[in-house]
Amino acid sequence: MKSIIFIAPPAAGKGTQAKLVTEKYGIPHISTGDLLRAASNGDDELSITISKLLSEGKLVSDDLVLELLKERLEQFDCENGYILDGFPRNLTQAKKYEEILSNINMELGIVIFIDLAREVAQERISGRLSCPKCGAVYNSSIEGSMPIKENICDNCGTTLIHRNDDDITTYGIRYQTYMKDTVPLLDYYQTIHKLYVVDGNKSKDEIFKEITDIIDNNQ
Ligand code: AP5
Repeated sequence: MKSIIFIAPPAAGKGTQAKLVTEKYGIPHISTGDLLRAASNGDDELSITISKLLSEGKLVSDDLVLELLKERLEQFDCENGYILDGFPRNLTQAKKYEEILSNINMELGIVIFIDLAREVAQERISGRLSCPKCGAVYNSSIEGSMPIKENICDNCGTTLIHRNDDDITTYGIRYQTYMKDTVPLLDYYQTIHKLYVVDGNKSKDEIFKEITDIIDNNQ
């Protein structure tokens, strides 16, 4: 199994698809957003700095993200591939990631871009519910994405929360950051023939079908 990078505008469905890919192919889902949210929980200076950047919708420093990622990739479950959700976020991270890969003799794998207009993605944040324990994601206003029991995680029974960066103003900042820093990655991966595009407007099952076709054709 090759490693898979998901790129998409904020709240376009990267995490949702990554979890489905994990279930089907048994490779770990590595979300740098989740790693950073976990690292923001303490009361030391670093945790407070990360927490502030997340709530403002700004990117955390490349060095810190790369350190967290490197540590995660060294774990044994990554040996047969993994899904990167939210990384790389800019060209510096992409280049540094390739250096890490060459040091551990791994290939870049494939990059899947979930294409979705800002208005549609932004609409999805208002109903998004996240599980602070297992990371499952739901949507209280989208049929097929609601939890079985209102506000309770289907997987672990934890009370679901609204992320504190899921408001319209912060979304605007996250989207601008995405346009400025992350969109240039699409050209970069296109040029090296690694990029596959799926239409994020479809249902999550239809998108998943397209993604599994891409993965299966690249085994
Ligand atoms: P991160 O956690 O990566 O946030 P994001 O990129 O904004 O993406 P989201 O997690 O908001 O959305 P998603 O695409 O996973 O969508 P989801 O599946 O939940 O990053 C957060 C912050 O961490 C950043 O702002 C930054 O500060 C920092 N950070 C992270 N990585 C970094 C890095 N590499 N460098 C520096 N800083 C970094 O879906 C959204 C909603 O839509 C859900 O409710 C879902 O149920 C619903 N949905 C999903 N698919 C569909 C569908 N097909 N149809 C209808 N509804 C759907």
